[in-house]
Amino acid sequence: MSEPAFTELSGYAEKLIRGRHATRAFRPDPVPDDTVRAVFSLAGSAPSNSNAQPWRVEVVGGARRERLARALQTAHAERRTSVDLPYSEDMYTRVHQERRAAFGAGLYGALGIVADDHAARAAYDAESLRFYGAPHAAFLFVTGDGGPRLAADVGAYMQTLLLAMAAYGVDSCPQGLLSFYADTVRDELGVTEGRLLVGVSFGYADEDAPVNRVATGRAALEATTAFHS
Ligand SMILES: Cc1cc2nc3c(=O)[nH]c(=O)nc-3n(C[C@H](O)[C@H](O)[C@H](O)COP(=O)(O)O)c2cc1C
Repeated sequence: MSEPAFTELSGYAEKLIRGRHATRAFRPDPVPDDTVRAVFSLAGSAPSNSNAQPWRVEVVGGARRERLARALQTAHAERRTSVDLPYSEDMYTRVHQERRAAFGAGLYGALGIVADDHAARAAYDAESLRFYGAPHAAFLFVTGDGGPRLAADVGAYMQTLLLAMAAYGVDSCPQGLLSFYADTVRDELGVTEGRLLVGVSFGYADEDAPVNRVATGRAALEATTAFHS
């Protein structure tokens, strides 16, 4: 087998893609407006089927972020969940569950929460509705019929956004949990179109927080990918 053709660009890509990690403790410092605009402008170059671009993105910061965080925590305390895109634990296979368990062990281990302390895990989840302390959050809605094909396009947008943020030195955490409060997000932001797929908290990482040093592995290439010739 020949050596892959490494170029300056592939070197950047390796660093950018492998260097992005979910951040779960942020400093309060806001991201400058021009950086926020640059990142979302770059994310808009994501691919989509027939270039339909079926995303609607709502970005919050400042007082609105504070109000939304309070509303989310109230909705959580009152058990007012609302989900636009169906979720069930049954969607995962056994191997998915094994990977999820390994991830959970690493995350909760870093937080000092033992495996069967369900109350502490629930408290941490509730706290995460404050965007892990991030000064900004973006909400990604799927427009059109909100079905799986269009949701896949919004997934491509999400990853483009995460990489754009990483390239501009902005740390992020995609948070599926935020999508369990779709009506609250809609009401607070006056959104009239689309189904909420995911929220993305963003800002600058608190480098001293042990939770930000959680390492996640990946399945071996052969476990997920076949090459046919
Ligand atoms: C669609 C999606 C939803 C996610 N939801 C959450 C979430 O609710 N809370 C959280 O802390 N992390 C969440 N994550 C982050 C994943 O846990 C993380 O991406 C994964 O463990 C791999 O780690 P890495 O991003 O640091 O490489 C989510 C990621 C994706 C792509």
